[in-house]
Amino acid sequence: MNILGIESSCDETSVAIISEGKLLSNLISSQDIHKVFGGVVPELSSRAHLQMLLPLVKKSLNETGILPNQIDLVCATAGPGLIGALLVGLTFAKAFAYSIGKPFVPVNHIEGHIFSGFLMEEKPEFPYLCLVVSGGHTLLLLVEGDTEIKKLGSTIDDAAGEAFDKVSKMLGLGYPGGQKIQETAMNQRSDFVDFPIAQCKNEFDFSFSGLKTAVLRFIQKEYGDPAKIPIKDAALIAASFQKAAIEALIKKTEKAILKYKISSLSLVGGVAANELLRNEFKKLSIKYKKKLVIPSLQFCGDNAAMIAYRGSKLNEANIKYNLDFNAFPSMNDYSFIK
Ligand code: KG4
Ligand code: ZN
Repeated sequence: MNILGIESSCDETSVAIISEGKLLSNLISSQDIHKVFGGVVPELSSRAHLQMLLPLVKKSLNETGILPNQIDLVCATAGPGLIGALLVGLTFAKAFAYSIGKPFVPVNHIEGHIFSGFLMEEKPEFPYLCLVVSGGHTLLLLVEGDTEIKKLGSTIDDAAGEAFDKVSKMLGLGYPGGQKIQETAMNQRSDFVDFPIAQCKNEFDFSFSGLKTAVLRFIQKEYGDPAKIPIKDAALIAASFQKAAIEALIKKTEKAILKYKISSLSLVGGVAANELLRNEFKKLSIKYKKKLVIPSLQFCGDNAAMIAYRGSKLNEANIKYNLDFNAFPSMNDYSFIK
């Protein structure tokens, strides 16, 4: 079985091919154009997807030696994400599936992330606790099967990645912020500022907006103008912020490990690329003797391999989709997360 996956929910255009369960190709093109604007500009994102998608599909087919009519299943991200960007990938995928007379499967982007650990050699074992940390979502989940996903908690305001991006902007470090904060904070002490960790009503919920505001207040109080922050202090603030953000994620994860019977632990999404967070998860897995699966970096950020994998599982579950399936902007529109 040859599966084509397409991802175009935000600022990465990605195409992947999984053949007989093996990932043969996973091409990712990141859109640099947004850097000058300090964030993703939706219209530019759609145009860049339109430009990149066909060449990437051709390249992916070429490098695997698979012909278009040898594709058995076409999967694409249908949401959540930027609607214009989603429509580019989704419409392409539907047209491709129609032209070769093969089924099409729409994939929820977050569910793609949730199961991205299965792209690794060592796979998670059900039931597993999964922390999803991306630019738009922060979710703590109990994953009991391919279609049984229980939401334990989520962010009540900003997503973890969003907080990294905003604080990076405040410190003048640029976009995308997660990587910049990590690099700037490297080898710096993290006790320069004692930033708060939010308490939430639901014990497994997260909140990052207070932390973001605390960083802003600190900058305004100490330096007045963000442009006046000395480079050394920016690095110390970045390290203090990173520590607080990660501590919040780890605290809730540890609470859930203690409460639920799980076989594995998984950390997924763009922020899962963070070294400190990966290390803290390793410590948790050793402390509680749980199998840990964190995808390698190519599968943490947005990629089509996870979309192809997720689509293949929905297909195996015999779920049928029509070509009139539309793109959706919000998480709750179509998802197996309950
Ligand atoms: O999953 P993803 O690629 O896209 C979404 O679905 O949102 O996540 C992107 C997020 C961005 O907020 C980015 O700043 C963050 O992941 N990120 C990181 C790191 N690398 C990317 N955050 C912290 N540390 C990193 N090393
Ligand atoms: Zn993502």
